[in-house]
Amino acid sequence: MGGEIIDGKKVAELVRQSVREDVEQWVKKGNRAPFLQVVLVGDDPASVVYTGTKTKACRDVGIDTNTLELQDTISAKELKGIITDLNNDDSVDGILVQMPLPSHLSQYDVIESIDHRKDVDGFHPMNVGRLSIDQPCFRSCTPAGVMELFKYYSIPVKSKHAVVVGASNIVGSPMAVMLSRENSTGKATTTICHKFTRDLTTHTIHADILVVAAGQPNLIKAEMVKEGVVVVDVGINRVADETSEKGYKLVGDVDFESVRKKASWITPVPGGVGPMTVAMLMKNTLLAAKKSIYP
Ligand code: GUN
Repeated sequence: MGGEIIDGKKVAELVRQSVREDVEQWVKKGNRAPFLQVVLVGDDPASVVYTGTKTKACRDVGIDTNTLELQDTISAKELKGIITDLNNDDSVDGILVQMPLPSHLSQYDVIESIDHRKDVDGFHPMNVGRLSIDQPCFRSCTPAGVMELFKYYSIPVKSKHAVVVGASNIVGSPMAVMLSRENSTGKATTTICHKFTRDLTTHTIHADILVVAAGQPNLIKAEMVKEGVVVVDVGINRVADETSEKGYKLVGDVDFESVRKKASWITPVPGGVGPMTVAMLMKNTLLAAKKSIYP
């Protein structure tokens, strides 16, 4: 026995189905299909896989998409010029610049050059800022997907102690904001832990909800959590596995088997949070096309 599985694959398909239906309605009314422009700089193998997954998901729900593949030697000026053109192009609803970028490019500057009304990743400071004051905004897809999982499984967040491990701009920070804000889905007492946290266990042991996005396999072990905890594992790590054809397998940041025994709910890797990220991107792209967030 042990915790029940939070089936991200299933919930993601429900989100995608709802987007699919909405896109169909939108197009039936005489609008063109939503359009997502993906920008891939260089050929980082993981980024190539991720952008491929995203564009496939787009087509699956009726969103048009195209990937601009740029050389990793592109200058900041050239890249920003391309983004400005996309900002000014009315046929482009959403712009996604796949991260990470080559080291000579500033991630921050590139993100800020995207029109925040087309920032379907929710990375632009305007969206990050508006999130922190509960104003309508594009929300970062992974934490938004985690909140959607809590909603689907009626997992209560209000007044719980949520502990977020990892403080990245993409996941940990916006996750903590979503959990802690005094809105209809938040209101958790929230602790953020990160690589400078002295004794991780002193925090994780008190968590009613534990979200782990540290990028470290087996970081969270059974003795670090309390009975009944809800565990969300955002990590995707490749570890060597001779029994697999590829020579590796994907694992999260949580020692799944042992932690599951104490958890009330737990996400698997793969099949937990990953599919939700893509589904929420579809949702954001539809919102961008409909100008629902920024009329
Ligand atoms: N790199 C890793 N995750 C993401 C994401 O959600 N969006 C973008 N643009 N790049 C990423």
